[in-house]
Amino acid sequence: LKRAYWNTRFGFYLAAIGSAVGLGNLWRFPYVVANNGGGAFVLLYILMTFLIASPLLIGELILGKSSRKSILAATFTLEKSKKYKLHWIGRLCLLLSLFIASYYAVISGWVLHFVVHFTRAFIQTNHMSLSDPMQMLLNSGWLQLALASVHLLFCAVITYKGVEDGLEKWISNMMPIFGLLLVVLVFRSLSLPKSSDALKFVFYPDFTKLSLSSLGHAIGHACFTLSVGFGVMVTFGSYLQENDHIPTAGFRVTVTDCLLSLFAGLLVFPIMLSGATGDVKDPTLLFATLPQFFLGLPNGILFGWAFFICLYLAALGATIGLMEVIVSNVQDQLRTPRSWSSWIVLSICLALAVVPSFSSSFLGNVRVRGNSIMENLDSFLINWMLPVIALGLSFLFSRGVSAADNEKHFVDPNRAESVALFGHWKVLIRYLIPIVIGISLLLQIFALF
Ligand code: PFF
Repeated sequence: LKRAYWNTRFGFYLAAIGSAVGLGNLWRFPYVVANNGGGAFVLLYILMTFLIASPLLIGELILGKSSRKSILAATFTLEKSKKYKLHWIGRLCLLLSLFIASYYAVISGWVLHFVVHFTRAFIQTNHMSLSDPMQMLLNSGWLQLALASVHLLFCAVITYKGVEDGLEKWISNMMPIFGLLLVVLVFRSLSLPKSSDALKFVFYPDFTKLSLSSLGHAIGHACFTLSVGFGVMVTFGSYLQENDHIPTAGFRVTVTDCLLSLFAGLLVFPIMLSGATGDVKDPTLLFATLPQFFLGLPNGILFGWAFFICLYLAALGATIGLMEVIVSNVQDQLRTPRSWSSWIVLSICLALAVVPSFSSSFLGNVRVRGNSIMENLDSFLINWMLPVIALGLSFLFSRGVSAADNEKHFVDPNRAESVALFGHWKVLIRYLIPIVIGISLLLQIFALF
């Protein structure tokens, strides 16, 4: 199959950042931080981002650029010359992508619901009741499923249109606007009465607040938010041009994504601590705090409307990244046309979205270890499965991809420092990453008892 290339280098950044920036930063980061006690966890998350997720992101881009294939095909090719069975790593990545895409679609549906509510408030009465929209969602599984379906349908149509037309155009239009809006909102949020408490909560590390699972949660979240472990960056890497320098690209994506998460914390925590929302530490945190904040602002409905539209477009960019990877793998494996592959993937995701959609209504009584199905699914996929896959990827990049390929795509002869960096990267991938992930999994197992 002929591979498409990014029209411009900027196009690659927009798509990679568009895939990385999403609900993970705005929706998941604040509630995971709240659950793990604040500043010490933020520090751990930043550390894991640079020591584990970012080196793996670079590894994925190298694998994509050197093989010009998507992850499954690339692992099949690599294992031909090795004694290890590497394709199971590719398969796990794809399985994870499918599950995440469906559950991510449900949360994207929540965002869409708020877009509709703010639009209505904007057009009709300029008034919106605070508790209704979230409660309405939590009570109705059908509504959640319908919204998730609409979202997946949008994504399938865009993916079907192909990489240059689809991805680049959508994402490029929305990123800068979202960044600007966030800056304005963070300024407003930091002028709330409890903002100094919030700053202390986010930046003052109190290590006694960490639990045995915190390391695993930090690794899982760091990988999730950088879209590492899904094969998505392998696919994006396979579209890169020959002269693009991978470590620089990986580093820029990492820094942008990490900054956005910190911004999200600075936006949400002053509102949470100043407001009447109480102690929300579950997946509804963002939706419980923000609407209330918007309604207290001058022109708040307009701000709320703009914010949820931007958040929705970010969710769209991220889901398209996920769909893109699944579709390109199905296309590579089954040799089906892009249209067919897109519809097959859409149908599977829709079927998988049923259970998380009903997790707060029809299946609301099903609780495991005190948590809903949705929370357990999130924890299983991101805190457990993703670190295991990251372990597999570190093996793939250190034993599967040849040393020559790694060096060729990592080292830039015009930059002396890239030789030294390459040495560090190899040590991280081969030794540090497997050891730290191994320890984190053991700690999480202890925490179960
Ligand atoms: N990185 C995205 C986020 O933070 O919302 C989530 C994600 C998107 C994960 C695309 C994986 C992926 F392929």
